[in-house]
Amino acid sequence: MSLALTPLKITKANNSRREEVDFDNLVFGKVFTDHMFVCDYENGSWQTPQIVPYGPISLEPSAKVFHYGQAVFEGMKAYKDPEGKTWLFRPDQNYQRINKSLERLAMPAFPESYFFDGLNTLLKMDDAWIPTAEGSSLYIRPFAIATESGVSASPSTKYKFMIILSPAQSYYSGEVRVQIAEKYSRAASGGTGYAKAAGNYAGQFFPTKLANEAGFQQVIWTDASNHEYLEEAGTMNVFFRINDTLLTAPVSDRILDGVTRKSILTLAKDNHFKVEERPVLVSEIVDAAQKGDLKEIFGAGTAAIVSPVCAFSHQGKTFELPKIHDSFAERFKTMLNDIQYNRAEDPYNWRYAVK
Ligand code: COI
Repeated sequence: MSLALTPLKITKANNSRREEVDFDNLVFGKVFTDHMFVCDYENGSWQTPQIVPYGPISLEPSAKVFHYGQAVFEGMKAYKDPEGKTWLFRPDQNYQRINKSLERLAMPAFPESYFFDGLNTLLKMDDAWIPTAEGSSLYIRPFAIATESGVSASPSTKYKFMIILSPAQSYYSGEVRVQIAEKYSRAASGGTGYAKAAGNYAGQFFPTKLANEAGFQQVIWTDASNHEYLEEAGTMNVFFRINDTLLTAPVSDRILDGVTRKSILTLAKDNHFKVEERPVLVSEIVDAAQKGDLKEIFGAGTAAIVSPVCAFSHQGKTFELPKIHDSFAERFKTMLNDIQYNRAEDPYNWRYAVK
C-alpha cells in the first residue's frame, strides 16, 4: 500500500458537475464524479496511468469484452469522518481480490502502487463529492476490461483498468425479501463464483427478474448440484441467526470472499457471539423458521452494508421473519460503521487514511 513514484498523468475537468447533484436523493450508482482513473495495458505492460475528466470511452465493436465478457470489478467505499478526513475500509483486501479475479479471467495483474496512488489522487481531486450525511459514502468502482479488437475466443492482449466514483446511500433501502434458488444457479465448483467477474452478475439478472416479479428483491443462491446448501445472495454474502447462533457458509470457489462478511465474522468472534462458519442446509433454515428459532437473516456487502431480510420463500411458501429489537444485523452495522466513519477505535487496523 506504499505510495511509490507512479508516473501519474493528470488532466483536470474544466468545470465541476458537483453542484448539479441532489445529495439528498442519491440513487445508487447513477451519478459519477468529475474525474476517473484509466490505465491501459498493451505490449505486455501497464502503461502510464492517467486521471482524466469522467466521460465516455471509445472501443471497437469487436473489443473482446463485448463478446466474451472478459471483465472484472471491485466495490469499495470512501467515508468522511466528522472532522472531514477521508477513510477507506480494508482497501488491501479489494486490491488483492481484484488481482485474484484478474488471474481467473486470464487478465494481467495490476500493480499495487498504480492502484493506491491512482485511488488516493482521484479521491483527493474529487473530495467535494464524498457525501457527509449519515449512512452515505462515496462508492468506488475499480474495474478492468478486455479492449483488444477481434472476435477470436482467446484472452485479449490489451486491457483498460479504470476507477470511477459515485456518491451513494445504501444499496437497499428498507428490508429485503429473498427467494431461495431452486432451479437456477449462480456458480459451480471450479467456476468463477469466487471472482468478481462481470459475467457472474449478468447470469443472475434473469432469475432475479423472475424473483422480482414474484415480489422478492433478491435470490439466495444454493449449491448448483442439489440446491440443498445456502451460498450467497449475489450482491452480498448471507448470515442466518438461529436463536443466538450466527451461521454463514464458508467461502469456496463458488462464494465471494466478502470483505464485509469476513469483518463481521471477526467482530462476532471477538465480541463473544456464537458463530458457526459451515455449510448451511436450506432444510435447517426452513425447520428453524417453522419452529420460530430463525431470528434473523441479513446480507453483508460493501454496497449493501448490512441489509436485514424480512422474509424468504422456498418451494412456494413464504416465511416472514420476526421483528427483532437490538438485532444482530443492527449491532454489526453499528460496529462496522463506527470503524468506517472513524467514530470508534480500530484495533484491527482496518481503516486506511486517504493520503
Ligand atoms: C459491492 O458490494 O460492492 C458489490 O459488488 C455489489 C454490487 C453488484 C452492487
